Amino acid sequence: MHNFDEIVLAASAAFAATDDPDALEQIKATFLGRNGRVTELLKGLAKLPPDERKTAGAAINRSKDAVEAALNARREALRRMALAARLAEEALDVTLPGRGQARGGLHPVTRTLERIEGLFRSIGFDVADGPEIEADFQNFTALNTPADHPARSMHDTFYLQDTAGGVAEGVLLRTHTSPIQVRYMQAHVARYADREQMPEIRVIAPGRVYRVDSDATHSPMFHQVEGLWIGEKVSLADLKGVIGDFLRRFFESDDLQVRFRPSFFPFTEPSAEIDMAFMDGALKGRWLEIAGCGMVHPNVLRHVNIDPEQYIGFAFGMGPDRLTMLRYGVNDLRLFYDGDLRFLRQFV
Ligand code: PHE
Repeated sequence: MHNFDEIVLAASAAFAATDDPDALEQIKATFLGRNGRVTELLKGLAKLPPDERKTAGAAINRSKDAVEAALNARREALRRMALAARLAEEALDVTLPGRGQARGGLHPVTRTLERIEGLFRSIGFDVADGPEIEADFQNFTALNTPADHPARSMHDTFYLQDTAGGVAEGVLLRTHTSPIQVRYMQAHVARYADREQMPEIRVIAPGRVYRVDSDATHSPMFHQVEGLWIGEKVSLADLKGVIGDFLRRFFESDDLQVRFRPSFFPFTEPSAEIDMAFMDGALKGRWLEIAGCGMVHPNVLRHVNIDPEQYIGFAFGMGPDRLTMLRYGVNDLRLFYDGDLRFLRQFV
């Protein structure tokens, strides 16, 4: 009897001594295999006197059951250990903060541009784009500003150099987004060349422009949004309506005042400066210059093959940087372009 208990204890100890499932099966064989210790005991039964065989046989079978139970328990324990190890290794801590980039935000001027685009789209304007490196023709000549025209000096232009260091003939950084409208009109005329009457042109041209200029209210790179409406019956009254409506919606102020002051641009006649005044807040009652505008000069239309006897329209150009400063109460334009996140984060 003592022998049987001892085998169960020895088997349990041997099973516990390994945590390798393959080794465990090898050890099993030394107890339950064909020449294993339990099997040897069963074989020995035959040598016992018949009256002892029954009790001895029952004891051996209990031992065998106990050894098998210990084996199965150890198998199960090893399976669990393996699973736990794998789970630990592949664990994902879903509570850890992500490693991805911090979320960015739109630049305040971009917000203004999107707002302007949305407002003009809502009254049926298209939004056009164009190259920042422009040809002299689209930037000046087509806009009724030939090479010797004194109005060219109104724009301090960056001219491009050719590879030899000389000024590249007729290539410059656009000084306004008007050339976008020139290109837009050219494409429009080409598209409807076979029609007696072309559809109206209603487009705004937002984008970066460049001038040799730098102080608190001027940056060598700044933004413009220009607009153009050409049709058969477009009038100065339409211009006043569109601009006044736009400004009141942009600044969300119904009592905002708008006035038109005579001015000069080579590409419009008559021309005007647009001033606006808030009726409340820090700038209450102060006239602020906000845009230039006018009725498109017949020469501009002729340059893009539109008949000025049939078509007429208005154009305007405004500075979204300026609008952004007014909307958010920023007093130095350069803050927008310094890239200081402490400043920019305030608009996110
Ligand atoms: N292109 C002009 C400028 O940049 C602005 C403008 C556009 C004025 C359209 C009148 C009409 O100075």
